[in-house]
Amino acid sequence: MTITIPKVIGHRGAAGYAPENTLASIRKAAELGARWVEFDVMLSQDEVPILMHDDTLNRTTNDQGPTFKKTLSDLKKLDAGSWFDESFVGEAVPTLKEALALTDLLGIGCNVEVKPMPGNHAQIASAVTEVIKGSKTSVAILISSFSEAVIESLYRDLSETPKALLVEKIPDDWRSKLQKWDCVSLNCNHKHLTQEQANTIKRAGYQLLCYTVNEPESAASLFGWGVDTIFSDYPDRV
Ligand code: G3P
Ligand code: MG
Repeated sequence: MTITIPKVIGHRGAAGYAPENTLASIRKAAELGARWVEFDVMLSQDEVPILMHDDTLNRTTNDQGPTFKKTLSDLKKLDAGSWFDESFVGEAVPTLKEALALTDLLGIGCNVEVKPMPGNHAQIASAVTEVIKGSKTSVAILISSFSEAVIESLYRDLSETPKALLVEKIPDDWRSKLQKWDCVSLNCNHKHLTQEQANTIKRAGYQLLCYTVNEPESAASLFGWGVDTIFSDYPDRV
């Protein structure tokens, strides 16, 4: 399985310039020249995949409480923009379906990061699978998750879509995990990556992606180690 991933991916859209995980943020990333965006996907109470990073609504909406307790209809009433800046007042919580329609329209690829809650990995994997299979998108999709249970389900049900194992620190058994789930890349936090690990992963033939890199100097040093791609809140800066 091959996929061409650009050197820079807009993180949560372009989270440095617009409210993360909104359609405005995806549009902003495209406007800044990003060829791909990453966004986070959680499940609403009625099992619709929506864009949200946190377990609670507190930080990025005008409501409070656990994200998974709200139905899509509840979520659609929220303002996910004004916490960032008044100019984004009324920006909605998008569904995965809406985000994929937009990336298709803009002609930009995307990394769909699946974020399960404890106990709902099977439901979120199945709901995301259904949306991706049902979308007529012609742009590239890379699907990733910190949850091995989610990757395992997607390996089975969404075999045609390239997958990435997402980790904070690189585990000792990274190679066998990537092989087992036929992943194209390892996506890790750049803070814990060493040059030696980068060399080994690249020698093994995998793409190496690092989050979240907002300083041009860090980006240059990671690219110097052979890192293929960085996720940035400021995709134009790096
Ligand atoms: O997918 C890369 C990165 O977004 C993972 O961390 O917490 O920003 O979703 P987080
Ligand atoms: Mg993410």
